[in-house]
Amino acid sequence: MEPSGVSDEKRPTVDLIKDKNGTDQILLQNPKGASVKISLHGGQVLSWKTDKGDELLFTSAKANSKPPHPVRGGIPICFPQFGTRGSLEQHGFARNKMWLVEENPPALPSFDSTNKAYIDLIAYNNHSCFSFEFHLRVSLALDGNLTLISRVRNINSKPFSFSIAYHTYFSISDISEVRVEGLETLDYLDNLFEKERFTEQGDALTFESEVDRVYLNSRDVVAVFDHEKKRTFLIKKEGLPDVVVWNPWDKKAKALTDLGDEEYKHMLCVDGAAIEKPINLKSGEEWTGKLNLSLVLST
Ligand code: BG6
Repeated sequence: MEPSGVSDEKRPTVDLIKDKNGTDQILLQNPKGASVKISLHGGQVLSWKTDKGDELLFTSAKANSKPPHPVRGGIPICFPQFGTRGSLEQHGFARNKMWLVEENPPALPSFDSTNKAYIDLIAYNNHSCFSFEFHLRVSLALDGNLTLISRVRNINSKPFSFSIAYHTYFSISDISEVRVEGLETLDYLDNLFEKERFTEQGDALTFESEVDRVYLNSRDVVAVFDHEKKRTFLIKKEGLPDVVVWNPWDKKAKALTDLGDEEYKHMLCVDGAAIEKPINLKSGEEWTGKLNLSLVLST
């Protein structure tokens, strides 16, 4: 649909590009110059830039972008599970798969009457345990907000259950300079203590060692404050009760081949997620989850 009264040069653009391995990517740009890059490998958002060209998502300089390896950074989608369970790979297979651009609604370029640039992707799976269609809409609004809307439909005759996390790697100045608000008093499962349940005691979460937690039933807005960069990320979510917080710190960073030894200082994963209570879908049922990321600058 063409927004009325908007001249050509002010319209959002949606372009198909390729990375160095020849993998298709989609570049969304809004009329002010903000942009979002999404790879069809994993349906993974790899870049989110402001209209000044500042990158808001972390990607490791050592990331391996050759499929099926998921890129260390951006927003990999952990689905149909978070973590490890049974024979499925860690964080599921959606981030390893090639996704397709949905033909209907029509292909590029796509923008709506509010000048929001968007792309609709789809992943299918026909495994006997996990038969689904996963529709993903990634959009970039005029104000630079990034939204991911997921619709998962069970296309099997049998029910299936899944967990999901948008494993968002925020780019930060220094891990010791940031704090996360919105998780106070919540219970969390600590992956560093075999998923034991604890209750958050502090006013805000700050970092001085490895953190690997799933906060349960959080409110729908969580904030990441970065004092040095004078910016705050707001994470708004719907249908995603849990929040993962992960920073590997020095020892684990050294053990990860696709993360530089010092890079843990400049990344923090805070994920909208549904983990503790898996989502059950009967045949033909559909689930929707929404993640909206925005940036607030302070002076
Ligand atoms: C975290 C997990 O959320 O994701 C960690 O709890 C894991 O245990 C991390 O190391 C990154 O996972 P991966 O598979 O991308 O290396």
